[in-house]
Amino acid sequence: MTRIAIIVGSKGRGSNMRAIVEACQSGVLDAKIACVIAPSEDAPAVETALSLGAEVVIPADMDADLLGILQERDIDLVCLAGFMRLIPVDVVRHFERRMLNIHPALLPKFGGKGMWGMKVHEAVIAAGETESGCTVHYVSEKYDEGAILHQLRCPVKSDDMPESLASRVLELEHRGYVEAIRKWTLR
Ligand code: GRF
Repeated sequence: MTRIAIIVGSKGRGSNMRAIVEACQSGVLDAKIACVIAPSEDAPAVETALSLGAEVVIPADMDADLLGILQERDIDLVCLAGFMRLIPVDVVRHFERRMLNIHPALLPKFGGKGMWGMKVHEAVIAAGETESGCTVHYVSEKYDEGAILHQLRCPVKSDDMPESLASRVLELEHRGYVEAIRKWTLR
């Protein structure tokens, strides 16, 4: 059974993490959440992870400790869910094609450094796009540039505000991340 570690961000709600954990717990995915890794105790996602019964690990030094934490737990697949920083190169290389991230737009458009949260949806609307969605991609040494594993699309409506588009995309993300993991396990 695939052993997954999820890395959440310091500000994220943890809603993608919740979707993945619930899919494992309900048997939708043939995978087990070995741990949720958070940059700090006060990350909002930590409480959610604990309430779902997941083991939470908070590294003393994320960059230095991450590879050891993943290796000790025999992790097969790492899923970034709201983690906004670059992953150390040694970890990216060790987990080549075994580390995924989700981005709230249709990459390769609207990605890269600084493109996160509402800024992504503002840019999509400003560009006059009629379609957006989410992308699950492999993690590489640069922001949002790894090979694409899975995408789901939704319309951008003419009266959309960044917030309304964000919530439509977020619903897709929860489904899209689980589908991407299933695709990965069947690859
Ligand atoms: C999501 O929009 C995801 O695409 C991006 O960060 C956000 C995390 O949200 N990478 P949540 O913490 O999973 O609710």
